[in-house]
Amino acid sequence: MPKQKMNTRNSSAAKKPVERKSLKAVDRLMGMKDTLPAEFRYLSNVMDKAASLAELYSFNAIKTPVIESLDLFKQSMRNSSDKEIYGVNCDKGEKAVLRPELTQGILRAYIENNFVELPQPVRLYTIGPVFRHEKMQNGRFRESNQFNMEVIGEDKPMAETLLIAAAYNFFLDLEANFQIQINSLGKAECRKEYNTKLSAFYKERGRRAKLCNNCKKALLKTPMALLDCKEDACQQLLAEAPQIADCLSDESREHFAKVLEYLDELNIPYNFNPYLVRGLSYYNDTVFEFWPINDEGAMQSKLALAGGGRYDNLVESLGGKPTPSVGIAIGLERTVAKIKDKLELPNLKEEVVFLAQLGEQAKIKSLILFEELRRMGFNVRQSFSTDSLKNQMEEASRLNAKVSLILGKKEVMDETILLRDMESGVQETVAFKKVKDKIAKKVNRKEGVIYG
Ligand code: HAM
Repeated sequence: MPKQKMNTRNSSAAKKPVERKSLKAVDRLMGMKDTLPAEFRYLSNVMDKAASLAELYSFNAIKTPVIESLDLFKQSMRNSSDKEIYGVNCDKGEKAVLRPELTQGILRAYIENNFVELPQPVRLYTIGPVFRHEKMQNGRFRESNQFNMEVIGEDKPMAETLLIAAAYNFFLDLEANFQIQINSLGKAECRKEYNTKLSAFYKERGRRAKLCNNCKKALLKTPMALLDCKEDACQQLLAEAPQIADCLSDESREHFAKVLEYLDELNIPYNFNPYLVRGLSYYNDTVFEFWPINDEGAMQSKLALAGGGRYDNLVESLGGKPTPSVGIAIGLERTVAKIKDKLELPNLKEEVVFLAQLGEQAKIKSLILFEELRRMGFNVRQSFSTDSLKNQMEEASRLNAKVSLILGKKEVMDETILLRDMESGVQETVAFKKVKDKIAKKVNRKEGVIYG
C-alpha cells in the first residue's frame, strides 16, 4: 500500500516550536582591525591633512589597485621571503596578491603609462590600505593605511631633503613628537663589502651564540638584516658592530653629506643612525625613519611612524628605464594612535546646518537647497527619510546643529523658510532667496571646499 502523505498542518508534531540553532557570528580575521566611528574621525582627518600637504608640495594624486601581480613584489621581497604576502585566488593561474606596499604599484603605473615621457621628476602620492601577514603586536596590523609620496626620476640629494621636510611638517602640524633617524646604505658594492665585514664581526668572540634564532639564520644570507632586529640581545651587540659609513664610495659620501647639509639649512633636526638599514631590499644611499618619542624626548616604541629612502634601481628592476627615485610612506594608524590625545578635531557643533522638511513639495525644495548649501561648503545634514518633524529636530540636536532650517507647506507657499537657532531656540522667518546669505553670516563653512 502506498504510504499516505501525512498532513502535518494540524498534527501535534507541527505545533511543536521549531528548534532553531542560533547562527555562529562571523568574527573578523586575525590581525584585521575595525576602525569604529570615533576613531575613523581621526583617521579621515589625518588623511585629509595628508592629501593637502602632498598637494602643497606639488605631488599629484594617484590610485592603484589593491590587488597586484606577485611578480611586482618579487624583486623587493621584505626580508627575502614572501611569508608576509597575502595571496589572492584568481582565474587562469594568475599569481595575484594583496599589495604589501604602495610603492611598487605606483612605479608599475609610472612605467605602464609611460610617465617617463613627462617632465621629470614625476611626483605622485597615494593614500590607501596595505596588507602584511605579520606577527601580531600592538601597533602592527595585517591591514593598515599608508600615505606614500614618491619622487620618481630625480637623483639629486634635494629630493630626499624635500621629502623629509614634507613629512617633518606633517608630523609637526599634528603635534606628534618624533625623531628623524637617517643613514646612508651606499651602493650595492658598498653593501657587499659591509656584509662581509658584519659577517666576520658576528662570528668573532662567540657573538653568534647570543643572537636570536632569526638572526642566526639571516647571518648566512644577509648579515645587514641583523641590524634591523628589535630583539634586545641582538640590539646590545650593535654597539660594537662596524659601521657602513666606512664602506661608502666618495660619490655616496658626497650625496649623503649634501642631504644632511640641506636638512641643517632647513633647521630640521635628525639623528645620524649608522645602524639604520630598513627591512626592504631595494634601497640605496639615503634611508630614513620617523620614530615616535614622548614629551621628554625618550623613545616611545620601536615601531616607526614613517620610513623611506632612495631606490635608484627599483624602476629598472620592474621593467622600466633606469630612473633614480626616492619615497616615503607614513603609517596612518600609528600616526592616529600617536596624536589622538592631542589633536583637536574641528568642532562640528559650530558648523552643522540641519535641514528639516514637512510634505512632498518641501522635500523637493529642501533637496535642492541641501545640494546648494553643500556646494557652498556648509556642513549641511538632513534626515529626508523621516517625515516626522519631531524626529528630525531630535536628529538636529543629536548632531549638535548650530541652526536648523525648517521648510513646511506654508513656507513653500510663502517662499520663506524658518530658521531656528539651536542654542537659543529663537526662530525667525526668512525669505527663501535670502537664506543662503543669512546662513553664511551665522555659520562657519568647512575649509577647503570649492564654492560655486
Ligand atoms: P615600511 O617601513 O614598510 O615602508 O612602512 C612604512 C610605514 O608604514 C611604517 O613606518 C609604519 O608606520 C607603517 N606600517 C608598516 N607596517 C605596518 C603594520 N603592520 N601595521 C601598522 N603600520 C605599519 C614601506 O612600505 C616603503 N614602501 C616606504 C617607501 C616609500 N619607500 C620608498 N617609498
